Order: sequence, then structure tokens, then C-alpha cells
Amino acid sequence: MSYQIQLQADGQTFSANEDQTVLDAALEACVSVPYGCRAGVCGACKGKVVSGTVELAAHSAEVLPESAQAEGYTLLCCARPKSDLVLDVPKMEQDPNKPQKMPARVARLERLTEDVMRVDLQLPASETFSFRAGQYIDISIGDHEHRSFSIANSPEREGVIELHIRLVPGGKFTTHVFNGMKARDILRIKGPLGSFFLREDSDKPIVLLAGGTGFAPLKGIVEHALHVGIKRPISLYWGSRTPTGFYMHGLAQSWQSALSGFRYIPVVSDSRPDDGWTGRRGMVHEAVLADFADLSQHEVYACGAPAMIDAARRAFTQERGLPEDAFFSDAFTFAAPPPPKD
Ligand code: FES
Repeated sequence: MSYQIQLQADGQTFSANEDQTVLDAALEACVSVPYGCRAGVCGACKGKVVSGTVELAAHSAEVLPESAQAEGYTLLCCARPKSDLVLDVPKMEQDPNKPQKMPARVARLERLTEDVMRVDLQLPASETFSFRAGQYIDISIGDHEHRSFSIANSPEREGVIELHIRLVPGGKFTTHVFNGMKARDILRIKGPLGSFFLREDSDKPIVLLAGGTGFAPLKGIVEHALHVGIKRPISLYWGSRTPTGFYMHGLAQSWQSALSGFRYIPVVSDSRPDDGWTGRRGMVHEAVLADFADLSQHEVYACGAPAMIDAARRAFTQERGLPEDAFFSDAFTFAAPPPPKD
């Protein structure tokens, strides 16, 4: 059975089968809606059901508590239509880049820390892969399984995709990356995906908030900003448990002289007396709270663990006046039992 879905903001319509999610149906119809994890964890695809009914699959109660469901909110990535629907979701400009599937060759492996590997993928010369800085790809690891990774370079570096992959204890794919993957291996990828990318039609100052390898898509965004000569002030806050976690510290420092108005603030959460760290300490989002009394005229781009994203979203919007629609996030998810993004 198929249903008609209408977006209230601009009247766009598309159809969805009752066995597919509203998000999958929108992407299939090339209708741009906000989304990130596709697993009910990040909250990027939250919208309101204005009319009609949906069936909601398992999701994080943090991003969509029962009280929000009672008010009609839903997650497009977890909602299957049970009738025709009218939805209120933030309006998105059309993504010019349709996700494609293609092979990619491992061109380079570089161990950045004990548990972070840089993997550069070479794309086929016959294919054009266009994306926006900050988006991600899926890597297929079986007939129906994939892992998602943010693209760490800017689109201006053509034909290459750089990934920063953290070793997840017990993670099937990441263990393979660290123990078995070799240069010239062929992977199957799909992308670009996600609505986490720099809004270039804005002139608001930018706060970038990274936890661990959440630095990756923000690196892509900064490199793109450097390429286009962006004039907006940018403050990059990078949180790590230990100082060794800043695996591209020198690069981030170098952006301060390369881009006027750029500030880099690394923040260590579990500093020990013997680690020699003399910089900021504490939770990375709290460093932003300490530095900004008012975020009402800013945009925030945050990538990291769901708990960090949730804490930042709540504090920035409730305590610093950041508009909800000026907080863009990409939350890590994991393969098992919580969802796929290792
Ligand atoms: S919760 Fe739906 S895309 Fe993340």
C-alpha cells in the first residue's frame, strides 16, 4: 500500500510504501529533508505530523521522548506511514548531489593514534563524486550491512575521500581496518549522505564543536572555508579525553594563521597531572558556554557522541539563546546493539 506525503513548508509531495520509512521514501524521490544517522539517534530528522498517522520504530528516548510524541513529533528515519501524511519539517534547499554507489580503492592507511586510523579512498576516474563538506558515506560490509563515516576532506580535493576511523572494541569493520585492511583493497561505498554541511547562505559567526573523530567532518568544513575564503568568524572547539586524542593538532593550529577570524580551542576532559596538558580542561560544550554569553546570532555545527550532542543542543538553545534551527549536528552511532556508525 502506498501513501502520499506532503511537506507543509513548500508543498512538495512524494509517495511512500507502508513498509518503508518516510526518510527513505523522501530520499528515493530526491526530496531534501534534514537527516543524519538514519537510526533514531541524532534527532536531525525530527518533524511534526500535522495530519495522518505513522508507526514509529525503536529510537532514542533522549531525542524523541514520549512527551514530544504526544505533541505530534516524530523521526522521519523511524516513521512508517499508516495513512497519507502532512508533515512539518524544516525546509531544506535541494541537495544537488544524489547518493551514488561505486567502488573505492584504499589508497593510504595511516595510524594517527593508537585507536584512530586515517583511510584515504581513491574513487574511479570514470565517476564524478560531488558532495558538500561535512557529509558522510556508507561503506558496505555485507549484503545488508554498512558502516557510516564522515568525509574529512573538502570537495575541492577531487577523486579522494579521507576518513578518520576510530577502533570500536568488538566492532567488526573497524577491527578489520586496524588488523586486516591493506592498500589497494576495494570497498563498496554509497554517498554523499546526510544534511550536515556548512550553510553558505548565512553570514553568522560559526562555532564548530567536535568530540574525538567528530573532528573529521569539521576538518572538511574548515578546508572548504579556506578554499572559498569565508569571512565569517569560526571557533573550533575540539574535545578529547586525553591530549593525544588531538590527532591533527598541528593542522588545526595552522588554520589560525591561514584563516582570519579562526580560533582553535582544544579541550581535554580527563587530564592527568603527568600528561603535561596546560590547555583548557572539562567538557568541550562547557568550554563554549564559558566563552559565549549569547549564541543567538551564531550557527553551531556539532559532531560527536550522542550524549555530547544532546548536552550541547540543550545548553546552547536553553541557556544561550541559540535558535533550534541554527544547531546542526551529526551524532556517532554504533553497530551493535545500538545502531550503525562506527
Ligand atoms: S534520528 Fe533520524 S536521522 Fe538521526
